[in-house]
Amino acid sequence: MDPAGYDLLKTAVLLLDGDRRVRHANTAAEEYFGLSRRQLEGMDADPLIGMVQSVVKVPLRAAPWAWLYEIPVRATLLDDRQHAHAEQTAQRESLRNLAHEIRNPLSGLRAAAQLLEGELEDPGLRDYTGVIIAEADRLVDLVERLVSSQRQGLEIRCFNIHEVCERVYTLLAAEYGRRIEIVRDYDASAPELRGDFSRILQALLNVARNAGQALTENPGLQAPRLILRTRVGHQLVLLRRQVRMGLVLSVIDNGPGVPDALRDKIFHPLLTGRAQGSGLGLSLAQEFMQQHGGLVEFDSRPGHTEFRLILPMEPL
Ligand SMILES: Nc1ncnc2c1ncn2[C@@H]1O[C@H](COP(=O)(O)OP(=O)(O)OP(=O)(O)O)[C@@H](O)[C@H]1O
Ligand SMILES: [Mg+2]
Repeated sequence: MDPAGYDLLKTAVLLLDGDRRVRHANTAAEEYFGLSRRQLEGMDADPLIGMVQSVVKVPLRAAPWAWLYEIPVRATLLDDRQHAHAEQTAQRESLRNLAHEIRNPLSGLRAAAQLLEGELEDPGLRDYTGVIIAEADRLVDLVERLVSSQRQGLEIRCFNIHEVCERVYTLLAAEYGRRIEIVRDYDASAPELRGDFSRILQALLNVARNAGQALTENPGLQAPRLILRTRVGHQLVLLRRQVRMGLVLSVIDNGPGVPDALRDKIFHPLLTGRAQGSGLGLSLAQEFMQQHGGLVEFDSRPGHTEFRLILPMEPL
C-alpha cells in the first residue's frame, strides 16, 4: 500500500503500527494537528487524538500498518468558504483596477477646478468650483480606501491582542461611550500573536464601529450594549484548513441585526445598508484577516449579532 495516495484526501488520516504509534500522516493531518509529518511520526496516537471529537478507527492487516484513523474535516464548510473567498477576491480586484483608472483623471479634474477658481471673480461662481473640489475630494478618499490594502506588505511583529482591543475600546468609548454600554470580556490566557498590528486594529475597529452604528442609529433601542470578547479557540475551520488553535475576537451587539437582504453579500465591497456608509468596512476587515490566514464570520438575529475575527495561532 502506498500511503502517498492519502495526501489527496481532505480528511486527516493517520496510519498506525501495532503499538498505535503514528507511522504515517497525510497532508490534511499535518494541517489538522499543526505538526509536520516528521513531528507526528513516532507519536503515540491515542493521546494525540484525545481531544478530537469524531475519529473513525479502521483495523488494517497490512504490516507495518495496523490501524487507520480518519478525522473527517468539515469539508462542505471549507468548500463554501473557499468559494466565497474566490468571489470576494475577484470583486476586490476589479474594483481596485477601476480605482486605479479613476485616480489620474480625478486629480486632473480637481487641479483644473482649482485653477478655474483662481480665475473667477464672481463669488457666486466660486461656489460651483467649491462643489467640484469637495466632491472630487470625496471620491479621492473612496479611491484611496479601495487601493489602501495593497499599498504595502505586512509589518509583522509580536504583540498581545489586548493592546488592540484596548485601543478599539478607547476609540469606541470616545465615540459612543455615553450612548451605549461597552463591556470588555478578555481571555487573559491568550498568548502573544504574530501579525500586522495596524491591520488587525483596523479590522477590529471596522467591525466594532458597525456595531456602534447599529446600536446608535436605530432609535428606541433598549439598553444598547456592545461586548468586546477574546477567546482562545480550538479546531477552528478557516479558509483552506482547520487549525488546532486560534484567537477568536468577537464583537457582540444587541442591535436590530444584519438586514436579511445583506446577509449573503455583506463582505462584498461597496455594499452598504447605511445612508452614509461606503460599504468598505467589512470588505477591508475580511481582507486584512485573510492576509493573516484568518477570516471574519458572523451570526445575526434581532437582538444578538456577533462578528468574529478569527486568527490562526502557530503551535508552540
Ligand atoms: N453589527 C451590525 N448590525 C447590523 N448591521 C450590520 C452590522 N455590521 C454591519 N452591518 C451591515 O452591513 C453593512 C456593511 O458594513 P460595512 O462596514 O462593510 O460598510 P458600511 O458600514 O456601510 O460603510 P463603511 O464601513 O465603509 O463606512 C452595513 O451598512 C450594515 O447595514
Ligand atoms: Mg462599516
